Amino acid sequence: MSRFSIIAYTVGGLFFLISCSFSIFYGYKVISHDLPKEQKAVVKYNYHFVLIPEELDNEYWKLVEKGAKDAAQKYGVLLEYAGPKQANIDEHVKTIEMSAASKVDGIMTQGLNDEQFTPLIDRVVASGIPVVTVDTDAANSRRLAYIGTDNYYAGYLAGKALIADTFGKVNVAIITGSFYANHMQQRVKGFEDAVKPEKRINIIDVEESEISRVKAAEKANQILQEHPEVTAFFGTSALDGIEIAHVVKKYHKQRQIYIIGFDTLPETLDFIREGTINATVVQEPYQMGYGAVKTMIELIQGNKVPPIVHTDTRILRKSDLPLSNQHRKAADN
Ligand code: BGC
Repeated sequence: MSRFSIIAYTVGGLFFLISCSFSIFYGYKVISHDLPKEQKAVVKYNYHFVLIPEELDNEYWKLVEKGAKDAAQKYGVLLEYAGPKQANIDEHVKTIEMSAASKVDGIMTQGLNDEQFTPLIDRVVASGIPVVTVDTDAANSRRLAYIGTDNYYAGYLAGKALIADTFGKVNVAIITGSFYANHMQQRVKGFEDAVKPEKRINIIDVEESEISRVKAAEKANQILQEHPEVTAFFGTSALDGIEIAHVVKKYHKQRQIYIIGFDTLPETLDFIREGTINATVVQEPYQMGYGAVKTMIELIQGNKVPPIVHTDTRILRKSDLPLSNQHRKAADN
């Protein structure tokens, strides 16, 4: 064998050995690393639920989602959070229809109004998919349970708070999330009933924000311009009070305006701390989400559940701050 052939065979042999080692090394990696990873990705869920909020990115609904997610993780549920990016009834309804068509194991949604939601919920339940309403009930539908605020009572509490916190003549304007949503109507009605016996309190205007920050601000400004006699505001959904406060602070600072809002979003709490918002109605969105998932599982397993579970509602003022740990945890989540 020539010297050249020996060198060629040696290099060839070495090359062969190196290729073999690479094959063995990567082959082993695929077996020992990649395969178990794929196996890990196949998580077995017990149920598949959908939570449909009024507005996906709304901070209030993020708290409902957080509660639902925590419960879903605990009980092995695949949870989807789907719905309109900005409040929109048609999209909301469509999301319920699509979820039902994809045969999920349970749907959690608001019962926003009787005309559109009651027949739809009834159809979904008749098709064998349980529906639990959260935050807003469609009480006349066949939904299996409602978990959320007693909205009439919450509005009533707001009215009582206004009475307790003010004296003399009060002209109050209401900005409500929607004229057509069940819970918003109930909040307004509760408020009206609470202040009705108090002759010194007059409701002079009720406007709608359509769950939009911009509209809430526009309406607040319009009311303040058209009604120089206004001395108080009641904002019935999470963003209304915040926007009323922005407008009062920025453009009508010289006026003494009492503001009562809804919910405990960080902005609301900041306005309460600095004194622009006087009081707010506390809801428990985290508990609603958590409770809805738990209730759904109980229902599917054939256990008896109460058809209505009212989550806690109360008034919060500056003197109640800082929040208790439990509350702060829910607000931070
Ligand atoms: C209501 C929700 C609503 C949210 C809007 C809350 O007070 O309970 O139904 O979607 O406000 O910001």
